[in-house]
Amino acid sequence: MKILVTRDIPETGVAMLRKEGFNVTVMGYDKPLTAGELKEAAKKNDALLCLSADKINAEFLNECKHLQVISQFAVGYDNINVPEATKLGIPVGNTPDVLSDATADIAFGLMMAVSRKFFYLHKTIAKGEWSYFQPKKNLGIEIKGKTLGIFGLGRIGVEMAKRCKGAYNMSVIYHNRKRNEKAEKELGAKWVTFDELLQQSDVLSVHSVLSEETKGIFNKAAFTKMKPNAIFINTSRGGVHHEPDLIEALNNGTIWGAGLDVTNPEPMLPDNPLLSMESVAVLPHIGSGTVEARDAMSRLAAENIIEFYKNGNVPHCLNPEVLKKK
Ligand code: DGY
Repeated sequence: MKILVTRDIPETGVAMLRKEGFNVTVMGYDKPLTAGELKEAAKKNDALLCLSADKINAEFLNECKHLQVISQFAVGYDNINVPEATKLGIPVGNTPDVLSDATADIAFGLMMAVSRKFFYLHKTIAKGEWSYFQPKKNLGIEIKGKTLGIFGLGRIGVEMAKRCKGAYNMSVIYHNRKRNEKAEKELGAKWVTFDELLQQSDVLSVHSVLSEETKGIFNKAAFTKMKPNAIFINTSRGGVHHEPDLIEALNNGTIWGAGLDVTNPEPMLPDNPLLSMESVAVLPHIGSGTVEARDAMSRLAAENIIEFYKNGNVPHCLNPEVLKKK
């Protein structure tokens, strides 16, 4: 079997695939393949190990319906048209859980960085602007005992909530389509409506998927309902917030600050006004960026393919109904 790995991922998973006797091609470029390159390469292979930047849309899938299994090196899969893959009978896997701690650490770190203006103040030193102790300047806000609002309380949101409860005894409210009863019991998390989430959160952290329903949901109307001292954190997908509206909300003092690990578009351009704002911290989509998490993602992405060929099973399958039919 021939497996295409669309980027140079940590070796663990690639070695596992090779050990099973697969013929593995790793595209070693430092950037994602173009749609044309991806199609060309996929046509020569039986299975695909892809990344979030690869557009696995209906057009691609219909041109590459010979693919027997697709495994995504990420937990998010908004780049993949899973319903279309299901129609075509192609199982799709992803890599959940193993990056929850790493991503929650980034959400928590961004909250800290924003509340005390870390990134902005760091830059002022480099510009030679550190003079004397200033009793009334460079002031941040405290987090202790405040309310954490989670939009999308799944595995990563739960890890963020645990950190915030443990470190600052924050109360946790959340908004999900489905109630997370386990988190309600274990963390005392309280389900609220979307409007209540906006109105009551001191820190609002986004951990949802990007879908038609969540696209741009954090827009002007939403920011207007938030507290003026609120911090907005997004470590899920940049498409969930409307960036011009976020910039306006920060400029107008509608909210206090924002911490983003994901932007819209990615990469963010260097002249983006968010990069020079005091209470803003931006990172280049590094939520899962630890040696441990990326290694485990590589292993899980490979396991999805290996198990499919060995036992007809994809351990982390997004469309298990396809496997039942096979
Ligand atoms: C994920 O796993 O979804 C990360 O955001 C990397 O794309």
